[in-house]
Amino acid sequence: MKGIVLISGSGSNLQSIIDNAKNIDLDIQAVISNNKDAYGLTRAQAANIPTHAIDHKQFFSREEFDQSLSQTIDQYNPGIVILAGFMRILTPEFTKKYEGKMLNIHPSLLPKFQGLNTHQRAIDAGESEHGVSIHFVTAELDGGPVIAQSKVKVIKNDTAESLAKRVLTEEHQLFVQVIHWFTQNRLKLNNNIATLDNKAL
Ligand code: GAR
Repeated sequence: MKGIVLISGSGSNLQSIIDNAKNIDLDIQAVISNNKDAYGLTRAQAANIPTHAIDHKQFFSREEFDQSLSQTIDQYNPGIVILAGFMRILTPEFTKKYEGKMLNIHPSLLPKFQGLNTHQRAIDAGESEHGVSIHFVTAELDGGPVIAQSKVKVIKNDTAESLAKRVLTEEHQLFVQVIHWFTQNRLKLNNNIATLDNKAL
């Protein structure tokens, strides 16, 4: 299946997707970043994947940025759009257009800790468990139907950095698994419910 990956930063999830692409029937057509300095663009170039940097600061509005993003994505006619650490809020027009084929990874056990600084917030809240969620993207920020989660224990003396590191290890494995379900046409979004093999998740 043809796919586009959107990133904003380091791209460690992107790297895991690149490393596993063949095994999960994914053909990464291009990597797009809103941040031209994102290290993930270097990772994509090293793998000979076309890259696009679309700087959101060059646009007057979110709508105009999203239109440009959408035009770039549509050149490739992808079956899946993968948000792998893409740190922009998307307009409802954009999310509607790709509904059912756009996945996001979020570093918390949703619905807990939507938004930013999830690791510190989990520590501050005294959580004993934290983790990662992968969900279909809908208009609601970090609120689309959850597909899969992976948990880690919060341990004594954890910092946001130490916790993030353990969560990232889970992220890399879980995202590849979920993308594979999608490329095998086993994963669907039906009436705002995520299903795997026609069973609600
Ligand atoms: C990951 O932890 C991902 O879950 C998070 O950004 C990080 C990107 O790391 N995404 C979000 O916070 C989205 N709301 P990476 O660039 O090394 O893959």
